[in-house]
Amino acid sequence: MRVIVSVATSADGHVDDCSPARLRLSSEEDWRQVAELRARCDAILVGAETVRRDNPSLVIRDEALRAARERPDIDKVTLTRSGDLDPAARFFTEGGGRRIVFSTRPLALPAEIILLTGENAAREIVDTLASRGYRQLMIEGGPQVLNMFFDKGLVDELRLAVAPFRVGEAGAPRFDMPCGMLPVDSWMAGDTSVSRHIAHRDETLLAEAVEESRRSTPTHGAFRVGAVVVTLAGQLFKGYTHETAPHNHAEEEAIAKALAAGARLEGATMYSSMEPCSERRSKPVSCSQLIVKHRFARAVYALAEPDTFVRNRSGEVFRQGGVEVTVIGSLAPLVREINNHLI
Ligand SMILES: NC(=O)c1ccc[n+]([C@@H]2O[C@H](COP(=O)([O-])OP(=O)(O)OC[C@H]3O[C@@H](n4cnc5c(N)ncnc54)[C@H](OP(=O)(O)O)[C@@H]3O)[C@@H](O)[C@H]2O)c1
Repeated sequence: MRVIVSVATSADGHVDDCSPARLRLSSEEDWRQVAELRARCDAILVGAETVRRDNPSLVIRDEALRAARERPDIDKVTLTRSGDLDPAARFFTEGGGRRIVFSTRPLALPAEIILLTGENAAREIVDTLASRGYRQLMIEGGPQVLNMFFDKGLVDELRLAVAPFRVGEAGAPRFDMPCGMLPVDSWMAGDTSVSRHIAHRDETLLAEAVEESRRSTPTHGAFRVGAVVVTLAGQLFKGYTHETAPHNHAEEEAIAKALAAGARLEGATMYSSMEPCSERRSKPVSCSQLIVKHRFARAVYALAEPDTFVRNRSGEVFRQGGVEVTVIGSLAPLVREINNHLI
């Protein structure tokens, strides 16, 4: 199950101020984008303190977003030790999705109560939801709960929205950027500055490469491939098939961006949705040779290149060039689906 965190802060890192009223941090445009992200998730989780303080409804209201979902309503999840949750809170009363309360004690609430039994509540929650078929969980705070999931290394993606004003109250709750997240994109949503970060681990980075491959146009002459380069300094560069020129491969596109930015590639890792080529008709240098030439330490991919155009032997090139290879086959079905025009 993929875990996505969405959080909004002030320019000085606060998620709220000290007043009893809920602090509005997002612009209209940011709200709209967060609603779209919510609509791509099966469930949304907030901590019990957020339910008590903010009384959020956590529903998807937009009819178009609801209509595009398998089930129009999103399921809601919270967690508590104290059990201090009001059955009249909007968490329980609004929307048609399932409500789940993870609790360390039995409770009488209008929700399914799942007892937490171990020390690692975040892991238990993720495993329980995944075993029930949830594919994407969105966590919207507050900081206590966010830190719990980050500390256990369970967050795949973070969407951080930063408002253009400061709170300036030392006692106000805050969110600090956790270690181990790599910045991928940033943009403005109205006057809110938004950035997207992903976890620095193979599965998440390869999944990012697979998503990147969706940007390439299906043609009968090439596979749709996405690539992500991660340098030892933690810089990240992406590319996809034919992004800037008709014969360019995804790996070449990502390497070109890294070189243009002056990044050092020695020791870097190349994540490719499909095995980097070892032979190509259109150019003299293959992507695996390019990876060796720039002294990458690792190549990670999901699917071996089918024999459609050439017989790929990247394993040999990488062995001779001292590049360690990791294949993560769990993402291969997705790569096949994205390339169903050829496979
Ligand atoms: N700007 C944003 O994006 C955003 C989003 C959401 C919230 N917020 C703000 O964040 C603040 C609240 O955040 P917070 O950090 O104080 O609280 P929180 O993360 O919302 O909730 C913490 C609560 O979760 C429960 N909990 C934590 N660990 C648990 C465990 N291992 N097992 C069972 N239950 C556990 C406890 O509930 P019990 O106390 O019931 O035991 C704990 O008090 C509010 O000011 C809210 O406005 C901001």
